[in-house]
Amino acid sequence: MLSGIQPTAGSFHLGNYLGAVRQWVALQESHDAFYMVVDLHAITVPQDPAELRANTRLAVAQLLAAGLDPERCTLFVQSHVPEHAQLGWVMNCLTGFGEASRMTQFKDKSAKQGADRATVGLFTYPVLQVADILLYQANQVPVGEDQRQHIELTRDLAERFNGRYGQTFTVPAPYILKETAKIFDLQDPAVKMSKSASTPKGLINLLDDPKITAKKVKSAVTDTDTVIRFDAEKKPGVSNLLTILSTLSGSPVEDLERRYEGKGYGALKTDVAEAMVEFVTPFRTRTQEYLDDPETLDSILAKGAEKARAVAAETLAQTYDRMGFLPAK
Ligand code: TYM
Repeated sequence: MLSGIQPTAGSFHLGNYLGAVRQWVALQESHDAFYMVVDLHAITVPQDPAELRANTRLAVAQLLAAGLDPERCTLFVQSHVPEHAQLGWVMNCLTGFGEASRMTQFKDKSAKQGADRATVGLFTYPVLQVADILLYQANQVPVGEDQRQHIELTRDLAERFNGRYGQTFTVPAPYILKETAKIFDLQDPAVKMSKSASTPKGLINLLDDPKITAKKVKSAVTDTDTVIRFDAEKKPGVSNLLTILSTLSGSPVEDLERRYEGKGYGALKTDVAEAMVEFVTPFRTRTQEYLDDPETLDSILAKGAEKARAVAAETLAQTYDRMGFLPAK
């Protein structure tokens, strides 16, 4: 297993947690799991150096607070393992220009920034992601739906390399849970919750004051109907709330539908708000505890980088050899 998350300003949002990080925590028990904070990916858009450093620490603290256990998984920062950039270059040379141009996240992001401001790094962002995954010979990649196309590219490039140079890379599969593959904006349930697209009221930041979180849940957009039923097409707002409550509480959606029969949206929203507050309150405390202890954080990351490098270096050496690079004596 391998997955990654960007060190964004402020905090992770509910989509990051339900769509990905929650699965990471569960999978560390049963799999040899590598999880990283992708600072090399973060610089595909301009970053303030001091903020990037702080956000990287904050991301690690949140991952630990969410339940990642460095005894059970390998937790590291991408730039601590130089093989990512090295294999990234190799993969760039295997990727077609047109193939990279078809990546929808690039198209969306570059359209927003304008062709002159979007960097070549943003263009090859998915190719670096390919290298991330292939370095660890990952079988599965736990992510949200928005990453599916990047995993498809990873499969294509792994197969292309293996076909050209002999079996080298494991061809990975996406691990996307249907229920939580896409968590939607609370104010506009037609779009996914995201830092860049959501309005502040539609976005649940995990480190916000729990009172603000509860308020956002209570003002979530629903519909003019009154029935609490899961129907992603006709009732996207209510369905999103049911998904959130079901995942946080562990009750299947069908049970929730039964529980709220004859009750109004207010009752559902109150319970979602309560479940959220129950989750974020200890999460905030734990995150702060890790931030207050930078020595522990650094030693976790040093061990993580060492474990990751051992695997990544072996894959890179094999790749270089297969491609015909002269060994450095
Ligand atoms: P990032 O940092 O944008 O998001 C981290 C994870 O959160 C998921 N996610 C969501 N899931 C459900 N609903 C949402 N509204 C939602 N918003 C975000 C994302 O799908 C992701 O799993 N390119 C990646 C980082 C990356 C990576 C990798 C992932 C770099 N290298 C290698 C896997 C393997 C990204 O920007 O994720």
